[in-house]
Amino acid sequence: MKAELLKRLREANDYVSGQQLCEHLGVSRTAVWKMIHQLKGEGYEIEAVKNRGYRIREIPDVMTAEEITSRLKTTWMGRPCLYLERVDSTNNYAKKIAEEEASEGTLIIAKEQTAGRGRRGRSWTTPEDVNIMMTLLLRPKIRPEHASRLTLLMAMAVVRGIRKVTGLEAYIKWPNDVVVNGRKVCGILTEMNTEIDYINYVVIGAGINVNQQEFPKEIQDTAGSLCLVLGRRISRAELTAAVMEALEGLYEVFLRTQDLSELYQEYNTMCINCGHQVRVQEPENEYIGTAEGINEYGELIITREDGVQTLIYAGEVSVRGLYGYV
Ligand code: BTN
Repeated sequence: MKAELLKRLREANDYVSGQQLCEHLGVSRTAVWKMIHQLKGEGYEIEAVKNRGYRIREIPDVMTAEEITSRLKTTWMGRPCLYLERVDSTNNYAKKIAEEEASEGTLIIAKEQTAGRGRRGRSWTTPEDVNIMMTLLLRPKIRPEHASRLTLLMAMAVVRGIRKVTGLEAYIKWPNDVVVNGRKVCGILTEMNTEIDYINYVVIGAGINVNQQEFPKEIQDTAGSLCLVLGRRISRAELTAAVMEALEGLYEVFLRTQDLSELYQEYNTMCINCGHQVRVQEPENEYIGTAEGINEYGELIITREDGVQTLIYAGEVSVRGLYGYV
């Protein structure tokens, strides 16, 4: 209801009479007034002028479920959206509610994570209320060994979302880091619960550095944020909604084809490693080659220095630029 009110006020971009809002929402004037009052408490600047109605003057960068939902253009992705003030990890929370029958498409957003997790057992630490910390719950009918393809889809969705909302040239560092100006602005952690040949659920967590101004020493040379490149703050709710919109389309294509046959070409145009020399780091082995791009199964094609081609699959293998992170 509050999401609908927000949407109406934002899209009108002008005064909307109390009467119109009552009719649109099917509630009383007092109920509208109460919601307006709550929104003001959350930081929205809403003018109320006699005989004209209400007008939004300033939309704060809030990540409430209502603000995100009011911007969603999806039919099911990102719905419902659950907002948590404080949680250990949105991935942990998503797994918990997945066990309790939460539906596919549920999106968990946190203001603060106390034990955020990254890939390969690393931690993901991010200051509260400036970045996006989100996890999406999916229940895809695909084979468990194909689940890592979903991570590639999320990376594509984040790139599409960033490009749409900021106009910045975001790219993917294979398999699923998103980089802007050579710095990592987004990491993705996909986890799943499976039977031998069946996926119970997949949770895809994404941490996007949006409005962070400074980074700890250890990651200063590789991490960046959208705000630092753009020189202004960005609405995290708008970006989240854009990512969900992109992902809904990508996921539906993926489910229909069961592979990346209709998507890998777009992925390759977004992939910053494509056509460049990379250092491939396997647990027991390291070599240099040229990254040619991914195939329809999401494997990265590498031409080694001796001309032999190999296929590498996201997981234990990592790829670095020859002279640094990208
Ligand atoms: C990486 O190592 O690059 C992946 C980082 C993933 C971080 C996100 S933040 C939201 C979600 N919750 C977590 O605990 N991790 C992911």
